[in-house]
Amino acid sequence: MEPAAPHEANADQAAYWNGPGGRHWTDRQEIQDAVLAPVSEVLIARAAVETGEKIIDIGCGCGATTLAIAVRAGVSGDALGLDISAPMLARAKERTSPGAPVRWVAADATVYPFEPGRADLLFSRFGVMFFADPTLSFANMRTGLRPGGRLVFACWREPRQNPWLMLPLQAAYNHAPRLPELGPEDPGPFSFASEERVRHVLSKAGFSSVAMQPVNLLLDVAVGGGLDAAVEGALEIGPASRALEDQPPEVRSAAARAIRAALAPHQKGESVPLGAAIWIVTAANPRVRPS
Ligand SMILES: C[S@@+](CC[C@H](N)C(=O)[O-])C[C@H]1O[C@@H](n2cnc3c(N)ncnc32)[C@H](O)[C@@H]1O
Repeated sequence: MEPAAPHEANADQAAYWNGPGGRHWTDRQEIQDAVLAPVSEVLIARAAVETGEKIIDIGCGCGATTLAIAVRAGVSGDALGLDISAPMLARAKERTSPGAPVRWVAADATVYPFEPGRADLLFSRFGVMFFADPTLSFANMRTGLRPGGRLVFACWREPRQNPWLMLPLQAAYNHAPRLPELGPEDPGPFSFASEERVRHVLSKAGFSSVAMQPVNLLLDVAVGGGLDAAVEGALEIGPASRALEDQPPEVRSAAARAIRAALAPHQKGESVPLGAAIWIVTAANPRVRPS
């Protein structure tokens, strides 16, 4: 299931999510879904899916949220999981029960020709921060929503408010070179950290009633597997893993020890709960005014 050609400005992201990014997320799908379960819980509750609704899950990855919301929509509804990553979608397909009202599409959300005005809900768990031109992408996604339909997604707040990602990275920096500095609006996990920017992008893309709720969570980066599991996770996914990706074994081992030391004070039994800060963003596709 190769994705159709992405928007040219998203070519780097398409390569990343069809390359190392997609590989890491697919390899760790089960654990990653367990780490992010508290996010899904609050986000899916906020989406308040009703029976019969038609849903689009943007950047659905390995499909956890698509499958969960499809169950809520029931057989009279349906869910479309759209992602630019062929390997992640392949995993999503593997997990789909026969007859489930779910379709998977390999495409760039920026240019995919959504069926106009069909969906009740445009949804995403961390799949909308990687667009080179987010106004263009959100304007295109809005074409798939019916007038009065809603947008609900989760994105990360500032890096310093997300120690679950930054603590291992800072420890890795004791041994590995720093990652290239990203600007606050460059595509990446924190590109929607600024409330002002998100509001600006969504209103320029034609959404109304934009609301942003800050939510603080504790994520167990060990998923009940103890300190070893937490260190392994940091080495396999997230910014610390990227900083260490091409480093020689001795650097990786030294960084692993530093990460272990940084995480140890947070261990509680077999869990390692660390702070995470997200926005739950909601907006509406305006109803067409009678002229
Ligand atoms: C951080 S992952 C989140 C995956 C999934 N939503 C989850 O929570 O497990 C970001 C996802 O966005 C997808 N993505 C990035 N750019 C995209 C684009 N332009 N169009 C569609 N999907 C995109 C990636 O392939 C990846 O699956």
